[in-house]
Amino acid sequence: MRIEQFSNGLWILKEDLSHTLVSSNFSQPRATTHKMNIIEVKGLCKDYVMGDQVVHALRSVDLTVEPGEFVAIMGPSGSGKSTFMNLIGCLDRPSGGAYLLNGEPVATMGDNALADVRNRYLGFIFQNFNLLPRTSAIKNVELPLMYAGVKNRTERAKAALETVGLAQRMDHKPSELSGGQQQRVAIARAIVNDPVLILADEPTGNLDSRTSEEIMAVFQDLNRQGKTVVIVTHEEDIALHCKRIIRFKDGRVLVDERVKNQVDAREALKQLPNPDAPPIAVA
Ligand SMILES: Nc1ncnc2c1ncn2[C@@H]1O[C@H](COP(=O)(O)OP(=O)(O)OP(=O)(O)O)[C@@H](O)[C@H]1O
Ligand SMILES: [Mg+2]
Repeated sequence: MRIEQFSNGLWILKEDLSHTLVSSNFSQPRATTHKMNIIEVKGLCKDYVMGDQVVHALRSVDLTVEPGEFVAIMGPSGSGKSTFMNLIGCLDRPSGGAYLLNGEPVATMGDNALADVRNRYLGFIFQNFNLLPRTSAIKNVELPLMYAGVKNRTERAKAALETVGLAQRMDHKPSELSGGQQQRVAIARAIVNDPVLILADEPTGNLDSRTSEEIMAVFQDLNRQGKTVVIVTHEEDIALHCKRIIRFKDGRVLVDERVKNQVDAREALKQLPNPDAPPIAVA
């Protein structure tokens, strides 16, 4: 009996039956599959060298994230949250440790392979939206498809904008959109390639509370559709919209806990005043 792992991450149990096989009834290997982690890091370290000083931004982080999780990364400023996101997002390389992304050992990959992995597996959202300022919403969303060499770009970009409820604004440039709408465009751009993992570093950091709630509703919808989502936030009430909170301190994981009563953003929105509602007439 031997076990092989295929590139798609499935573990295959292969029985060597050649010595017992007479008929071909059992000629196919029996296969069992295990749920594969989306993120698996072990001993992950990141040092930044600044002249003769070394900043130990991450000190041996062990962590796994399974498909369908919705994780909030929290912790004080400088605790290593963005460093961690940049590493799991393959935007930077660790100084030490192992990282399997969807089963692939990305820590040791070359630049081209890493760019390919980023395009295939990941969608990023940043605090300041990072949209091209003079380009329409739909063209911004089409960008990752262009890099991936996809043909029916407009159709897919439209579908992504519909998913985030922004189909009516697709010809607007970022300056013609509100902060929340710009963040929706950024989310549409992040999901247009159908990534397995959505990463967002302080996605509501520049937004007021109602708009933050609306953005969390979009993330919750995506998570309910099966997407794995990891966000960084400084706000406790935003973190409570997730299913799990991981707290960093001094480059280490301090606390890793399940959220018992996940806040439903759509329910929370019903409790907030609606700015679009007609004004109440005063007698
Ligand atoms: N490019 C860099 N060069 C040198 N040091 C860095 C670099 N990026 C981050 N650091 C340092 O690494 C540590 C962790 O920084 P990081 O940006 O990950 O913190 P953070 O938890 O995201 O903080 P914040 O909440 O303020 O965004 C800090 O001490 C920071 O000064
Ligand atoms: Mg940060």
